[in-house]
Amino acid sequence: MQTQGFFMLKNKKILLGVSGSIAAYKSAVLVRLLKKQGAEVKIIMTPAAKQFVTPLSLSTLSKNEVLSDLTDNDSWANHVMLGRWADIMLIAPLSCNTLSKMANGLCDNLLMAVYLSATCPVVMAPAMDEDMWLHPSTKLNLQKVQSFGNHIIPVDNGELASGLHGLGRMAEPEIIIKWLINHFSVCNDLSGKKVLITAGPTYEKIDPVRFIGNHSTGKMGFALASECQKRGADVTLVCGPVLQSIPTGVKFINVISASDMLEACMKEFENADITIMSAAVADYTVQQPQQDKIKKHEESFQLTLSKTTDILKSLGEIKKSHQLLVGFALETSNERENAISKLKSKNADFIVLNSMNDNGAGFGHDTNKITIFDKAQNEFHFETKSKTEVAKDIINTILNTTHV
Ligand code: CTP
Repeated sequence: MQTQGFFMLKNKKILLGVSGSIAAYKSAVLVRLLKKQGAEVKIIMTPAAKQFVTPLSLSTLSKNEVLSDLTDNDSWANHVMLGRWADIMLIAPLSCNTLSKMANGLCDNLLMAVYLSATCPVVMAPAMDEDMWLHPSTKLNLQKVQSFGNHIIPVDNGELASGLHGLGRMAEPEIIIKWLINHFSVCNDLSGKKVLITAGPTYEKIDPVRFIGNHSTGKMGFALASECQKRGADVTLVCGPVLQSIPTGVKFINVISASDMLEACMKEFENADITIMSAAVADYTVQQPQQDKIKKHEESFQLTLSKTTDILKSLGEIKKSHQLLVGFALETSNERENAISKLKSKNADFIVLNSMNDNGAGFGHDTNKITIFDKAQNEFHFETKSKTEVAKDIINTILNTTHV
């Protein structure tokens, strides 16, 4: 796999999590192969993993201290920095127990603390007995961790620790290495392209302490920004107030109101090859926001609202032929008709429909279920997926159906 002295994982920072499974013995081979490919490897073991392979073996092979405890000799292991250091976190083997903790967000050891705070992609190679593998709770847990955006390397069929034959063997280290090489192989299909993305809600001021806003968390827009950036694009993210951490390598423009967002988009749009409007812009703003806090003297009072400028529509009006414009439509009824009508009225090239009636779609979820409509009257339907995967589907659809 190391072709002509070329290190396929050169300088890649791999954080290897080893959990308690008989397959933990294979992690020694895995570490050797990772090092051979030029990767930098740091290792965290669960307490149970130490019964299957020694920290000494793994620290010798990785040339790094193996971590296992949240605290060590009165010092605290900085789990946040470990998850930020890594280019990818690989959990191999992933035991049934650790899988269950990951599905439920349990944090009772260092591996779990790092996993829960990791900002890098996470891939897992499960290992367990066939009956455990086929148990409905394991299936549900796997679905759950995948819906969080984690990747799973499929188990092998073969001889198991129980002496039985069947599904559940951890993928061989060579297969795991191939998966990693494939993951890191640079996909530069947006290289040289400028992508403008809007995300999050906008807040329309009522008075210094109150606003009109909506439930958008910005997750979909952030997933799109990360995906475009990974694929080589020059990304500008215009974003309303959200709690997400800013994706690295992206030009981030923080805005508050719909009019701020309009102003930023108008400035950035001219240079954009692709613009994706995933923000949930407020449709109405307060006509006369108050300078002082409104006191509750009255039994009732009225706010006069006026329509905000439709940013997508405004961009649609000035769009040049080489520019691609993608809008979203969040609907609760007549979804298809409304999406197609928005595609036309806003002069967009694509509309991504998500319906509040679909489980796991819309605000706040880590997943989304979309249908994409284009101007040639094509419809692309997708299953419920993590927002990271949905972002890939959106970008792939744009690239596969246009000449951008
Ligand atoms: N949009 C925008 N500016 C606005 C309102 C919406 O750019 N002032 C964009 C959104 O970012 C999204 C698309 O228009 O890409 C559709 O937004 P949506 O809220 O689904 O629909 P609206 O056009 O606001 O219409 P309605 O609320 O009546 O469904």
